[in-house]
Amino acid sequence: MRLRLHKHILSQAMSSSSSLPSDPSKLPLKPLPGSYGLPFFGPIKDRLVYFYCQGRDKFFSTKIEKYKSTIFRTNMPPGPFISSDSRVVAVLDAISFQILFDTTKVEKRDVLDGTFMPTTAYTGGYRVCAYLDPSEPKHSLIKRFFISLLASRHETFIPLLRNTLSELFVELQDQISDKGEANFNALSDSMAFNFVFRLFCDKNPADTKIGSKGPQMFDKWLAFQLAPLVTLGFPKLFSLLEDFLLRTLPFPAFLIKSDYKKLYDAIYTSATAALDQAEGLGLKRDEACHNLLFMVGFNAYGGMKTFFPALLKWVGSAGENLHKQLADEIRTVVRDEGGVSFGALDKMTLTKSVVYEALRIEPPVPYQYGKAKEDLVVHSHDAAFQIKKGEMIFGFQPFATKDPKIFENPDEFIGDRFVGEGEKLLKYVYWSNGREIENPTAEDKQCPGKDLVVLVCRLIIVEFYLRYDTFKVEETKALLGSAINIKSLTKATTI
Ligand code: HEM
Repeated sequence: MRLRLHKHILSQAMSSSSSLPSDPSKLPLKPLPGSYGLPFFGPIKDRLVYFYCQGRDKFFSTKIEKYKSTIFRTNMPPGPFISSDSRVVAVLDAISFQILFDTTKVEKRDVLDGTFMPTTAYTGGYRVCAYLDPSEPKHSLIKRFFISLLASRHETFIPLLRNTLSELFVELQDQISDKGEANFNALSDSMAFNFVFRLFCDKNPADTKIGSKGPQMFDKWLAFQLAPLVTLGFPKLFSLLEDFLLRTLPFPAFLIKSDYKKLYDAIYTSATAALDQAEGLGLKRDEACHNLLFMVGFNAYGGMKTFFPALLKWVGSAGENLHKQLADEIRTVVRDEGGVSFGALDKMTLTKSVVYEALRIEPPVPYQYGKAKEDLVVHSHDAAFQIKKGEMIFGFQPFATKDPKIFENPDEFIGDRFVGEGEKLLKYVYWSNGREIENPTAEDKQCPGKDLVVLVCRLIIVEFYLRYDTFKVEETKALLGSAINIKSLTKATTI
């Protein structure tokens, strides 16, 4: 009930004017609402409210209601002592959020994790690609390496993925037969890791020194870097203790040094073709390998770890009607096209829409940051605000992609939202740190894995409905995103 009430308030505040601004320059320039409170105490108070009193979404919706604005000043965790300045200007609607994609206006240097950056001891002493601003020449050099690496593996995507997915389905079915349910997250992590490692490093990780431990090693490495941004969900009694332990001092990197070395060695010895490609472009082999490790473990594995369970959660809970429509579409297209190919996947309009809808309703990387490169005017639907050079802009993406002025019933998962005319709304789907209708370049900060991610998600759905008619899921809370148990699978009755 409380949740419904706060969603309603949010929706009202975000809907206070009735149409999109036709001429933003005519919008009234208003003073930025919000405050940072007292130095030191303000950031601590805000982060306690954010993690332990209101929770993330209510923290933002309460401020939207209070200031009657989707743009305002606030502190963002972690605050002292991990971040030296936690003051941000939050942009929480579909229009103002787009300022974060304009790298001529915002600087993306060291802002991947927000107002703090983990020590480079986690990345072999290098500031890897995701921390670089496009104005730094290294950024485009490394990103060009990733873009050309992806292009060189294009023909491998579908066969390798189908292979990895069939291993997942065997395991899934075994667990359900044995225990009556399957922990999808563990299976999905292992599938994602195997796929990414084999794709970029040309070797089965089981045949390297890391064996089957890759996902756990990356999980630990990710958790150490991102600890200041999470809560472990302990009972309230332990809130202050948890806050103190996670957000006072950064976790020292030496604790994961030996795992990092094993991952680095496995990639260095396996990914010889990729590293040759990097050297050919002018990168040092060692720097390329640390960048490849970060791309494999943080960008790709980390993103998939969060999103695949979320995808299954949303599709699973959408009900049997959608399941039947998906099964019909997928089986008809595969039959007509004579198999699963890029062309066949492109014809599956409902499947495509379902994937975009999941990426819209639960964007896997919810936070984006950028520092104003100059004095800027940023506008929401109904007002404009000045942001000064050097101020940090923060976008909370789930609010931008659930903006009620853009999306009808924004909190509802509507499988066919992006079919037909609905495709026009794809420009407001931002999960890749850019508009879904745009392609990443070496000069911007959009995810170079964008098309691959969408392809993998479509293929998961396709392979699912080639095997099963319907399934039931149950959600529990996880550190990052959702934890999913598959409770039942109904085998396909038609082919
Ligand atoms: C579900 C999986 C994935 C998700 C959710 C995801 C999401 C993102 C997002 C949101 C960003 C921008 C971060 C920021 O600057 O705020 C990003 C950047 C990046 N992603 Fe992905 N990504 C995924 C998979 C991949 C894959 C498969 C690759 C492989 C090439 C990849 C490579 C990168 C790189 C290298 C960057 C940094 C881009 C730059 O600095 O210009 N990602 N990703």
